[in-house]
Amino acid sequence: MSERISVFGTGYLGATHAAGMAELGHEVIGVDIDPEKVARLSNGEVPFFEPGLPELLRKHVDSGRLRFTTDAREAAEFADVHFIGVGTPQKKGEYAADMTFVDAVIETLAPLLTRPATILGKSTVPVGTAARLAARVRELAPVGDDAQLGWNPEFLREGFAVEDTLRPDRLVVGVDPANPGRIEEVARRVYAEAIERDTPFLVTDLATAELVKVSANAFLATKISFINAIAEVCEATGADVVDLADAIGHDARIGRKFLGAGLGFGGGCLPKDIRAFMARAGELGVDQALTFLREVDGVNMRRREHVISLAGELMGDLPGTRVAVLGAAFKPNSDDIRDSPALDVAGKLHLQGATVTVHDPEANANAKKVWPTLTYVDNVEDACRDADLVVVATEWTQFRELDPTAVKDMVKHARVIDGRNCLPAQAWIDAGWTYRGMGRLAS
Ligand code: UGA
Repeated sequence: MSERISVFGTGYLGATHAAGMAELGHEVIGVDIDPEKVARLSNGEVPFFEPGLPELLRKHVDSGRLRFTTDAREAAEFADVHFIGVGTPQKKGEYAADMTFVDAVIETLAPLLTRPATILGKSTVPVGTAARLAARVRELAPVGDDAQLGWNPEFLREGFAVEDTLRPDRLVVGVDPANPGRIEEVARRVYAEAIERDTPFLVTDLATAELVKVSANAFLATKISFINAIAEVCEATGADVVDLADAIGHDARIGRKFLGAGLGFGGGCLPKDIRAFMARAGELGVDQALTFLREVDGVNMRRREHVISLAGELMGDLPGTRVAVLGAAFKPNSDDIRDSPALDVAGKLHLQGATVTVHDPEANANAKKVWPTLTYVDNVEDACRDADLVVVATEWTQFRELDPTAVKDMVKHARVIDGRNCLPAQAWIDAGWTYRGMGRLAS
């Protein structure tokens, strides 16, 4: 059955969710306060890079099932189910999450709800937020208790956002057990297709749903920092962290996924989510429970420094050297440079005096806004020309598949730091390169 849906926020999460809901057969209106974004989306143009999304967006803008507006009133009049997909970035100078955008959606939307409506929050929020917002909605909405709020955390990964939205591995819906209302029923209708495919559908209380999301991200961050901590030990002993991860990953209880040692995690989610989680735990008086996340954060940040010291080991003083940094996005198949380890490394090398040339297949433009003083080029050859060192900082397929012999002809000195352990090390060594991986053999 088709539902009338609004999605507030049209960033990586909101735009994908809106297009995904249209693909599931619903009628959707996306809402954003940024008129330029709304204009571009209305023309079927995605303002960021996400594989598969432009096709899906165009399909449903054309089919008429998906439109965009800056007018919350239009959304309130049109839709019965309202998703909140706005950002909750880290507050400036603090670990806590900035709730301004989520709060603004509620303050704008709730007073416009004159008939029964369901709000489902998707944004990642500090535990306790949903209960506070549910009360606020009841207080502000002309329809009173018939305006209900539940929490439906989002687990999509950038680069696979469309796939994760259309075929999620689980659905979680938090409702207030004392006042469950129609929220579960509405969510079951919205996600009917996935539920029919036997996608696990878990109904929890509000706090649990909020915590599911941050715990999942904290676990993923911990897994990455665990292997990066082991990488540090490998570096001190000559062991190889990639072989080690393969070996421990065969234990089904451990699993090989997210044991990729390298430059560590970045992006708009993992770093800020573990910090916001620690901040919230502090407010709740259980900060000790999450002190380990401080270490997770610390290990993660040390990986970036490690690349700088490797560069120093390979070249001596950095001033006067030319470094090619391949990659600026926080991970491949994305143009997102928020908290990107790759861009951080490029910037640090520059600050230490190296002349840095960056090439990323999709993220150059975003990177330039944050680090305008670096040089950005459109291809690997221009980046590597006369370089004293090549740093592979984001594991785009086109970098993984580079021919080491061809790249050797471009550079001045054949030295490479494989910041993502993504290159076939032996092939590069055989081609005459001095290769340094992260937590693995040196040559
Ligand atoms: C992450 C979660 O994986 C999603 O489930 C969640 O929905 C999302 O945050 C969110 O909260 O919205 P995402 O930020 O897209 O998704 O990126 P990930 O694929 O988790 O990668 C995060 C970072 O970890 C990247 O910088 C990546 O390069 C790094 N990483 C990942 C490693 O360093 N090693 C690994 O083995 C895996």
